[in-house]
Amino acid sequence: LLQKTDQYRPEIHFAPEKNWMNDPNGMVYFNGFYHLFFQHNPQDSVWGPMHWGHAISKDMIHWEEQSIALFPDELGMIFSGSIVIDWNNTTGFFDDQTGMVAIFTHHLDQSSGPPKQYQSLAYSKDEGRTWVKFSGNPVLKHESKVDFRDPKVFWHDDTQRWVMVLATGQTIMIYTSLNLIDWQFASEFGEGRGYQDAVWECPDLFELGMEGASLKKWVMLVSVGDNPHKQEGSKTQYFIGDFDGEVFTPDDELVRWLDYGKDNYAGVSFSDILPADGRRIYMGWMSNWRYANEVPTGEWRSQMTLPRKLSLVETNQGVLLNQKPVEELMNYAQDYIKLPSNQALVNLTLPIVKNPFMIDVIVAPADAKEIIFTLQTCSGEELVVKIDNRKEVLVLDRSRSGVVEFSDLFSCEQVLPISIEKRYHLQMICDHSSIEIFINEGNYALTSLVYPRSAFDTLTVTTDSLKAKLVEGEIRQLKND
Ligand code: FRU
Repeated sequence: LLQKTDQYRPEIHFAPEKNWMNDPNGMVYFNGFYHLFFQHNPQDSVWGPMHWGHAISKDMIHWEEQSIALFPDELGMIFSGSIVIDWNNTTGFFDDQTGMVAIFTHHLDQSSGPPKQYQSLAYSKDEGRTWVKFSGNPVLKHESKVDFRDPKVFWHDDTQRWVMVLATGQTIMIYTSLNLIDWQFASEFGEGRGYQDAVWECPDLFELGMEGASLKKWVMLVSVGDNPHKQEGSKTQYFIGDFDGEVFTPDDELVRWLDYGKDNYAGVSFSDILPADGRRIYMGWMSNWRYANEVPTGEWRSQMTLPRKLSLVETNQGVLLNQKPVEELMNYAQDYIKLPSNQALVNLTLPIVKNPFMIDVIVAPADAKEIIFTLQTCSGEELVVKIDNRKEVLVLDRSRSGVVEFSDLFSCEQVLPISIEKRYHLQMICDHSSIEIFINEGNYALTSLVYPRSAFDTLTVTTDSLKAKLVEGEIRQLKND
């Protein structure tokens, strides 16, 4: 029997007060607040009739849950979607004012035959507190597509139109509109491309700058569902290319993964971040469809990843989507333990004062075959992060980290390919039931849930080389009351 307890409730991540949550929906910035809506079953802590829950924040770290925004109706449940600010009242909903428009999927189960999915609108004139569903719903249907969902909408300046990307089976369809109500089909992307082993969900499309250069490219995110016949679970891929307002053209045929951990899914970016801020900020659902309904948190289920600032970087492995936790996180950082710099790594044991915490280290492996970081609890449970220089991988092993037996996939190693470097910079952020690892300033990310029976209180570092060094590092407590 699994223990059901609240010891896993996160402190620096959003989790619903009670019951079930999955995808982040309608993430938008408006009048000083970040809004997070989310797939929510307010009656139970497993997936069920989907509503949109709602939370607001001034900094994306400290969230306050609000009352439910959207309830199921005669057109069905409220599946995933996005929110835009209709700055110029293109919809005519706002009497020459400005307001929020939610574009979401209505999902209707039928007594016989496959369910129906179509896109609908709702709008709010009071900053997301109350919502009115558009009387002309649904606004977009498809004759034959059964999977027709998760609209992400943005304003495309060059063509002066709204653009919608939509998950349509194992492709993405693109539609355009002048008023969010009447939609024209523009193109379809993805046939035979990318990872095709399961249904595509929750797309996003945005332009992003290359670090240190004036070049900009378009990035398309596509989540790929769980294929029960594969040992992987649900995960998120991305494409880099160009977009002309109607057609997305990828630069190459590569399959790129947003995150090498098991627990980052259905993530998209915030809409309407002010141009003066200029950031593209991403947040994902920190779980995996393979076991999301079974994780040992009982009363509430699921949490979001940390908000992450995205950028493109040129590396010796090609152009990568870089992710860094937003700088607002550092406002929660407390006293730190500075680690002795330039010391041999052979066998280091460090106390961790309190959870949550952040470990930031730069290591120089020299001729080491491996460097192993182990987080331990007083009862000997351990979470192991290994840099394996022979296999050129970083591996996270949570198989002995506490409660793991609810799913085989949970005990599998999580593997991230790395190229051998003289130095590795690891940032590991641990909340009460998660670890997010950012490697080399965010060029790679690995996000993973973990359920130790008591808090991790020691970090040990071991290696096989006398020459391997800890260049510098610190451990910081993070706190959010
Ligand atoms: C992704 C997803 C979406 C859908 C929602 C239903 O996790 O399957 O495609 O809209 O969850 O809750």
